[in-house]
Amino acid sequence: MRVALLATASFGALAGVAFADGEVNIYSYRQPELIQPLLDEFTKETGIATNVLFLDKGLVERISAEGTNSPADVILTVDIGRLIEAKDGGVTQPVQNDIINKDIPAQYRDPAGDWFGLTTRGRVVYASKERVPETAITYEELSDPKWKNRICIRDGQHSYNIGLFASMIAHHGAEYTEKWLTGLKNNLVRKPDGNDRSQAKSIMSGECDIALGNTYYVGLMLTNDKDPEEKEWAAAIKVLFPNAADRGTHVNISGMALAKNAPNKDNAIKLMEFLSSGKAQEIYSEQVFEYPVLPGAKVSEVVASFGPIKPDPLPLVDIAANRKLASELVDKVGFNDGPTQ
Ligand SMILES: [Fe+2]
Repeated sequence: MRVALLATASFGALAGVAFADGEVNIYSYRQPELIQPLLDEFTKETGIATNVLFLDKGLVERISAEGTNSPADVILTVDIGRLIEAKDGGVTQPVQNDIINKDIPAQYRDPAGDWFGLTTRGRVVYASKERVPETAITYEELSDPKWKNRICIRDGQHSYNIGLFASMIAHHGAEYTEKWLTGLKNNLVRKPDGNDRSQAKSIMSGECDIALGNTYYVGLMLTNDKDPEEKEWAAAIKVLFPNAADRGTHVNISGMALAKNAPNKDNAIKLMEFLSSGKAQEIYSEQVFEYPVLPGAKVSEVVASFGPIKPDPLPLVDIAANRKLASELVDKVGFNDGPTQ
């Protein structure tokens, strides 16, 4: 039955690996090629084989439906929203482990141990090299009329924006954030649209001067040999780290969780300990152009070229607590309708 279930899984380089030390099953929202180098290293070190089931949606529903027979051991995903969804959906179990807790700073993990961050991604400002002389910026000033008719952004309800807006509520309260969202909406050039990369394209074309986007997309665009046009989009922008001079830049995480009914629990914990290690974080962050959560761990050269990031120390659990309210405010101010004044 397990074989049938995992028939769509990527067995990667596992052929021929001895199964004497057992295996571990990973349900992943992250694409197999992004995590394979890490998993190969894990298997090399421990002899434990890894099976990956990649899903692009419905991970929680699937594990839930599988119930106590679920083969899922470790869940890998991106965004605090999805980690919370897994916990709230009852498909995780808590882990209290000294090795993991030492390597992952408290702000990036669930206090109960139901999820852990592995890498961070900054939600930064992409700014036109040509038309934006500023070298510093804050999230707060994005609602200032000085940016009127100059900002592009993707859907306000997208989890990347919701994470940022939730952090604004955590820092300033709902009343301030509602006004701020209204100001930001009225500074937009057009209705929220596209993805983070397409905002860089809009800056290149002159449609807008600044946009919000995640750090790793800049790395992905700059190195995109398959679609070299993206290199031009990235070349048109510079990365500004908002609030670098005060509280720091909002970051979200990619992370992991132990599945509720993990059949290979010991191996799952071994994998989670491995993924927490500085070495694994460096392999992972290099692969995905993100930042390791472990202070002092190396980032890729491309990412380092944006300059240093100072992450907002706000615990991710506090961001999670404000996501629902952030989503309600996005609707309340008609954010996705675009500028109305
Ligand atoms: Fe993304």
